[in-house]
Amino acid sequence: MFSRRRALFGVLSATVLITSLSQAGGQASGLETYRDASAPVDRRVDDLLRRMTLEEKAGQMTQIRVGKLRGDCQYANGPLRDDCMKTVLQDAHVGSILSGGGDFPVENTPRAWAETTNAIQKFALDHGRLKIPVLYGADGVHGHSNVVSATMFPHQIGLGATWDPALLEQLGQSTSRAMRATGVFWNFAPVSDVARDTRWGRYYETYSEDPYLAGTLAAANVRGQQSHVDDTAQLTATAKHFAGYSQPLNGHDRSPAQLPVRLLQDTFLPSFQAQFDAGVRTVMINSGAVNGVPVHASRFMPQTELRERMGFKGVAVSDWQDMRYLVDRYHVAPDYRAAIALSVNAGVDMAMEPSNAGEFTSLLLENVRSGAVSRGRIDQAVRRILRLKFDLGLFEKPFVDPSKANAIVDGADRALARSAASEGTVLLKNDGVLPLSSGVRKLVVTGETADDARRQLGGWTVEWQGVPDGYPIPPTATVLQGIREAVPAASVVHAPTVPLAVAEAASADAVIVVLGEKPGAEGPADTENPALTVEQQAWVDAVRATGKPVVVVLLTGRPQVLGSVLGANALVAGWLPGSEGGRGIADVLFGAVNPSGRLPVSWPKVVGDQPMSYDQLPGANGGPSSKYDPAFAFGHGLSYTTFATSGLSASAGTVRFSVANTGSRAGTFIAPVYVHQPVSPVLAPENRLVGFARVTLAPGEKRDVSVTFDLRQLAVTVGDVDASGKREVPRGSYEAVVGDARAGFVVR
Ligand code: NOJ
Repeated sequence: MFSRRRALFGVLSATVLITSLSQAGGQASGLETYRDASAPVDRRVDDLLRRMTLEEKAGQMTQIRVGKLRGDCQYANGPLRDDCMKTVLQDAHVGSILSGGGDFPVENTPRAWAETTNAIQKFALDHGRLKIPVLYGADGVHGHSNVVSATMFPHQIGLGATWDPALLEQLGQSTSRAMRATGVFWNFAPVSDVARDTRWGRYYETYSEDPYLAGTLAAANVRGQQSHVDDTAQLTATAKHFAGYSQPLNGHDRSPAQLPVRLLQDTFLPSFQAQFDAGVRTVMINSGAVNGVPVHASRFMPQTELRERMGFKGVAVSDWQDMRYLVDRYHVAPDYRAAIALSVNAGVDMAMEPSNAGEFTSLLLENVRSGAVSRGRIDQAVRRILRLKFDLGLFEKPFVDPSKANAIVDGADRALARSAASEGTVLLKNDGVLPLSSGVRKLVVTGETADDARRQLGGWTVEWQGVPDGYPIPPTATVLQGIREAVPAASVVHAPTVPLAVAEAASADAVIVVLGEKPGAEGPADTENPALTVEQQAWVDAVRATGKPVVVVLLTGRPQVLGSVLGANALVAGWLPGSEGGRGIADVLFGAVNPSGRLPVSWPKVVGDQPMSYDQLPGANGGPSSKYDPAFAFGHGLSYTTFATSGLSASAGTVRFSVANTGSRAGTFIAPVYVHQPVSPVLAPENRLVGFARVTLAPGEKRDVSVTFDLRQLAVTVGDVDASGKREVPRGSYEAVVGDARAGFVVR
């Protein structure tokens, strides 16, 4: 019964595909210019725009949640319904649909995703006067992460620890391939916000506290996502959340931020610039308020900074319901109509308006008729949206082939996921117990996260708060499983309780304790106490008291304060390592992979150390707790071999040095390159990261490396307290800093 229904659906969707291709494919003479794939995009945009009614334009500026097209036409899941689709796609002319975290089809398979997006697309094309394709978006934040059978890559914080742009590019390609196979051509990723405060529930969604590292990795990921690797339309990535989202004053998601313009420009915006330079086509606006102004109502942020200073040319989409929140949360507009005018005039081109398409478009139209929003502004926004759709190739390739989707998505790139997990694993501390010998006889594996895939996968996995209770869990190798596979001859005892772990430890060679956090996202994942719990510390204390070597693996989305756990023989940060995390971490524990991961963030010693980052500004009056004094510093990470750098020299924009592997194992060394400015016109961090080298060396091997950087990375916003000056590179003396060595250079 099930398979007959499936077979019938397959035939239907194949028919959809063929119809569309013949519909969109031929370039017969007499085609309107906008449908002529050989015409320049600007001409296609102009041609289409002049044919559109105001109502059709308002529809293009709307993005609606897929829930409105199916089930009860509200929030309940269910099959697509023509009557719901008519309301959204035909009556309101909506041009974009999204799946928020957890908006999957009834059957959560790649094929069902492809059939759903195809059916929506078919409805839109069949019922749209001008046959403008719909652009479908979703959060593929660590792989195509709403799809239960997809491979979940490590979350961004763990990828930040790899310091490996080439890997990020590959991961971007993989995610893009999976999403495009299901007809999703807009990925709301990567996050470009810099990590600043471990209380914040979205800390794990960032790459790094450092603007250069975050931007470099985000840009590489964008290049991967937007590269064209097969015969579907292309995909657009998103730079989010523009900007100033990641340091709410009290650490709580979307609570207001206070960010002086100098801090905003010199610390929060550069990671976005890197993505713009890499050609990202869309940005998502920050839901929060900065300096007393909700960013969705600010002209300074989406206009002055985004467009005029940073040169972004693509589409700016709102975050979830954020125009409405200008009324409901922020009280800066008396009603939704006024809020829409405020936000559209501020520069937001498309509203992610999950619930009521008709209300949004009719209020937008009222605003145009009353003169509150100009027709010119509407045309500007719609022009950007149409250009995006043309650039992606959606007019030519609006559909995908559902019969290919499962094969492309299911279990794809597991080896890549495994190496991403091991590369992102940071060896924080090691008294020599690691790597464990593969000849080990007995190991005890304990801790509440040792065999818990839901915790290992984290938030934004199937649903935004993580895999819901009772829902099928994406195929995942837990740490317990990874260890069992790594040492098949050993006795690996899983001890889910403290007494059992202590009892079993007596006859074991070592104990591995795996600790983690409850999965979550956004506000629900905020915490006032970003630390291991008393119970977790007691668990480790109890097994340490047995006298056996204790290795602690931390599967956490933030560097939690460790307390007594700092005393373990070895500490391994595995972050939220995804489907292959258990194997990737076991690769490091047993030395199949020599760890190269380095902290992309500072690891605080105590909870009060917030916000914390290595680039804090100088000036504190010298008390012991006023200095940068983390448990583990930004850039820290041990290896099973030793490296030495020597021969540092520098000129403006180039730093040269040698790296030698002075130990007995092959390994990869990441050498951060910092710049220090002895005298600066405004406060500058002691050191700023401007580049890094990755060098893989055999034992005894030595290599010369040269790291180049753009002098613009040294720019600061000059001027007085009001930051009234430009961003410019101060002339004068600087020093390049690699390890303990320094070499001077001058910027003229
Ligand atoms: C809200 C989140 O802030 C954003 O990151 C996400 O892309 C959208 N919801 C869509 O799910």
